[in-house]
Amino acid sequence: MIRIGLLGASRIAVGAVIRPAAAFDQLQVQAIAARSPVRARQYAETHSIPKTHADYAALVTCPDVDLVYNALPPSEHKHWTIAALRAGKHVLCEKPFALSAEEAGAMVGAARDTGNVLIEAFHYCFHPLFLRVLELTKSDAIGTVRRVDGHFNTAIAFEPSELRYVRELGGGALMDLGCYPLHWVRQVVGEAPDVVSAVGEWHEAGVDVAMTAKLAFPGGAMAHVKCSMAGVSSGPLDNTLQVTGDLGTLTVNNLIAPHLGHELHLDTGEGIVTETLSTRPTYHYQLQHVIDVIEGSAPQVTGGDDAINTMHLINAVYRKALGQDAS
Ligand SMILES: NC(=O)c1ccc[n+]([C@@H]2O[C@H](COP(=O)([O-])OP(=O)(O)OC[C@H]3O[C@@H](n4cnc5c(N)ncnc54)[C@H](OP(=O)(O)O)[C@@H]3O)[C@@H](O)[C@H]2O)c1
Repeated sequence: MIRIGLLGASRIAVGAVIRPAAAFDQLQVQAIAARSPVRARQYAETHSIPKTHADYAALVTCPDVDLVYNALPPSEHKHWTIAALRAGKHVLCEKPFALSAEEAGAMVGAARDTGNVLIEAFHYCFHPLFLRVLELTKSDAIGTVRRVDGHFNTAIAFEPSELRYVRELGGGALMDLGCYPLHWVRQVVGEAPDVVSAVGEWHEAGVDVAMTAKLAFPGGAMAHVKCSMAGVSSGPLDNTLQVTGDLGTLTVNNLIAPHLGHELHLDTGEGIVTETLSTRPTYHYQLQHVIDVIEGSAPQVTGGDDAINTMHLINAVYRKALGQDAS
């Protein structure tokens, strides 16, 4: 049995861990800690979590938790992930992984030093829909990949307490939304790109509400990535990946939440083929992956060098958009 402890009474833990964990005999959501013990108790009661701890430090060191789910703001990921790893726990850490590549490196280093598992919660990439994308793009289905386009827009209203609008907590559209298309394009091309150009739209709170970036990969492929939380999305599912090769094009709608509807279109000289895959939530596949990695029956995909490379790219896009990188 893998006993899960929740760091923070977060909104995302309900859909990403509490609900999907119920489908697995090997998982039990065992404990929660929040900054306010009253809030922790209320959350525990609402979601039938057996135990609350006085604070985050008590949760990450308690003997009755094997896996810590870190759904705190990105600014808190490094400290509490390393504390949990050093206390002998495995960690599933939310995206974006950290504030910087340096922080990500320290987290990955702690996982390597302790031998405990650290996975970044890029849930989409464990779902059969993305596995099919990789299968098609790595085979000859569309030929050599020349261009990748990815966007993720979702309207997030300004609230002073909303972490996406607080720079110090790791807010910003690129951090919260753009990390997905940046991850898609890196996964599909399989190389580390240079940032050719980046343009941000800035909120007075000091975060980007939209970002566009053009990337160049060493093998010659280009990528165009866009994200926005500025109220321009056509709905919560406004995310698309398009991969253009010299023999065809692959277009996927809604890699982020395929259980709410998705389509994969493969357009080649032989016509257009449309597929849909599993309608199970990405979070189900993510928990299965976490179990498999902890049990040693599957290789780790996210959370190691991949997480450091993602943070390098996020940092590089910000530097380019802010004119801090002349290259
Ligand atoms: N994988 C996904 O699909 C997905 C979706 C949404 C969000 N996320 C990620 O999950 C994380 C949490 O997002 P969320 O939407 O669930 O946010 P949220 O509801 O605001 O939860 C964040 C938690 O962080 C804690 N916290 C600790 N220090 C804080 C501070 N200084 N300011 C604000 N909160 C603080 C709060 O815990 P207490 O209860 O202890 O106060 C709060 O419950 C983020 O990293 C986000 O990017 C992932």
